[in-house]
Amino acid sequence: MPSMSPSPAPLVAASARPLQGRVRVPGDKSISHRALMLGALAIGETTIDGLLEGDDVLATAAAMRAFGAIVTRTEPGRWRVRGVGVGGFLEPEDCIDFGNSGTGARLAMGLVASQAISVTFTGDASLRARPMGRILDPLRRMGVQVLARSKDRLPLTLKGPDITLPIEYRVPVPSARVKSAVLFAGLNTPGITTIIEPTPTRDHTERLLERFGAALEIDRNEDGERVVRLEGRRDLKAQPLVIPGDPSSAAFLIVAALLIDGSDLTIESMLLNPMRIGLIETLVEMGGAIEIDNRRTVGGEAVGDVRVRASRLRGVVVPAERAPSMIDEYPALAIAAAFAEGVTVMNGISELRLKESDRIAALAAGLGANGVTVEEGPESLAVTGGAARIGGGTVATRLDHRIAISFLVLGLAGHAPVTIDDSRAIDTHFPEFQALMNGLGAHFERAEPAAA
Ligand code: S3P
Repeated sequence: MPSMSPSPAPLVAASARPLQGRVRVPGDKSISHRALMLGALAIGETTIDGLLEGDDVLATAAAMRAFGAIVTRTEPGRWRVRGVGVGGFLEPEDCIDFGNSGTGARLAMGLVASQAISVTFTGDASLRARPMGRILDPLRRMGVQVLARSKDRLPLTLKGPDITLPIEYRVPVPSARVKSAVLFAGLNTPGITTIIEPTPTRDHTERLLERFGAALEIDRNEDGERVVRLEGRRDLKAQPLVIPGDPSSAAFLIVAALLIDGSDLTIESMLLNPMRIGLIETLVEMGGAIEIDNRRTVGGEAVGDVRVRASRLRGVVVPAERAPSMIDEYPALAIAAAFAEGVTVMNGISELRLKESDRIAALAAGLGANGVTVEEGPESLAVTGGAARIGGGTVATRLDHRIAISFLVLGLAGHAPVTIDDSRAIDTHFPEFQALMNGLGAHFERAEPAAA
């Protein structure tokens, strides 16, 4: 279970020397959760190399143990999962605490929905405030019973029926987690569960399901929508898995290297799944010197080494259609935009209001506190770059790791130090961040918590 220390840990970032050399970032978070989950349902022993060991993924490992899988860490980043077979989850003795992890909680709801067990999910203050209705709606249609507060928030209890109904579900918002939860529920559902995705989203679930031998078909319908069909009640076979570096973690290093003069940094073995690299596309449009070498395929996913050199950026309009391929990277982009010449407009980003924090509001407040002009719309953010003095402010991180790291990057690139009020959330996703940046010569100072 995630263990966050009880008091806030403020941190200060001041301007950094050039970032140079070659680094690796921890394993991809989305794939890490899914690898543990499918390993827990497979027959045999799945080995996972490069698992992300942040609190979020550790909470998923603990949940899979509570459902009866044998999950062992053999050495740093190397894990083994002995699964229980599709439909074989045990009813856990205690409630399942996903801490800060929206992905862990939502995907696990899909996993348990088609098992005739009762499971209570809970999480931290941030997760308890996040809407679960979009996951619960299709699961209810499949027959799961939900006992929840009126707004479908955690804590809540799911009880799966003896036999779930296969559904055809058109995902109403672009969400890989909704898609994946329904497909996971479909694994133990007789017949064909069908997902229709009008807007494609990250496809790690489909890739891994194919890897584990699930009966999956992917095509397009006459309207050009992506259709995924899964035949349930088929065995999954344990697999050896290797997890590439997380582009959402690399995003912060990429932006820092673009912004800090004299930087020339290569991030090795980064995941290049086309549904995850919208930020790179955007930064290149902004004038960023980013090159990708050594492209290869690792475990069914595209991977490469990403070289980034300090660059002068200019503002662009980021089209709404690009949002699914960079949904977690807008905080990093907003920091890059603060130093670009002109205005960067991010459109169609209402989903950002439903993440670990309301990220549109958190970015607008944090940038404003550091001398950057921003305009916040209901579904958009416009950042005017190039202010004479960027930095000097304190930022409320709202239990949100991406807000915390983004503003540390602002401090590394800015003209005056930036203080974040609490760095603890960083451990949920990128616990190595400070050590990795220190290794590159960046430096963070602890600060005293503000008086209550
Ligand atoms: C994720 C999907 C995205 C993303 C999240 C991880 C996943 O969320 O923001 O960090 O692993 O499927 P949504 O499905 O809510 O868009």
